[in-house]
Amino acid sequence: MRPHCFVVVPAAGSGRRMGAAVPKQYLELAGRPVLQHTLERLLAVKEVRHVMVALAAEDDRWPGLSVASHPRVLTTVGGAERADSVLAGLRSLEDIATAEDWVLVHDAARPCLRPDDVVRLLERLAEDPVGGILALPSVDTLKEVEAGTIRKTLDRGRVWRALTPQMFRYGLLRESLEQALVAGRVITDEANAIEHAGLQPKIVEGSPDNIKITRPEDLPLAEFYLGQRL
Ligand code: CTP
Ligand code: MG
Repeated sequence: MRPHCFVVVPAAGSGRRMGAAVPKQYLELAGRPVLQHTLERLLAVKEVRHVMVALAAEDDRWPGLSVASHPRVLTTVGGAERADSVLAGLRSLEDIATAEDWVLVHDAARPCLRPDDVVRLLERLAEDPVGGILALPSVDTLKEVEAGTIRKTLDRGRVWRALTPQMFRYGLLRESLEQALVAGRVITDEANAIEHAGLQPKIVEGSPDNIKITRPEDLPLAEFYLGQRL
């Protein structure tokens, strides 16, 4: 039987760097909340069975989204850090996902995702035992810096920026994240947990418009990208 495909969307952050009155996943972008855009783009991928959204415990805005009642959308309560929210999402899938199923983790704050990029990720990794992530080669020259001083120049050809979705087998990802958190590691993306488990995630080139909305200046840029034809 072919593995099924699930998505976990961590959406329990507070958006500290955005500094807005509401968490950034609920800011309006081209007339709809950021999280609504993000989920619509994920649901446009027919291979996705269910999207599990990890929400903050105190979130009272979620019921206001039209996507909240979508039959393929489920919710759970997230945690203190992004990795805790992802793990909460994974645990909530345990009755419907098997160890060999695929799970794609995608940030709520990346509403400009192209459904085609998700399809490409699924196709490229279909036969892979581990999984991999969307990423972008760096266009800038990158420096390793300590205390405001350049220590060295990194080889640009070997440095990529990690995006989401990040796609791994359900069992492997859950175990790797649980172990990393027990070991007290700071885990900022799923690939890092897989690396700590001694495995090598693959890279699939993504699109530059798949930005993570982080600071106020990202909003007009995201609005521009959302207006582009897919
Ligand atoms: N996230 C989460 N649970 C947390 C922290 C973050 O689900 N405890 C989610 C965010 O909602 C976001 C994604 O993880 O969709 C990426 O995190 P980030 O861009 O850092 O969002 P915030 O943590 O909300 O922003 P900031 O770091 O500026 O506070
Ligand atoms: Mg954060």
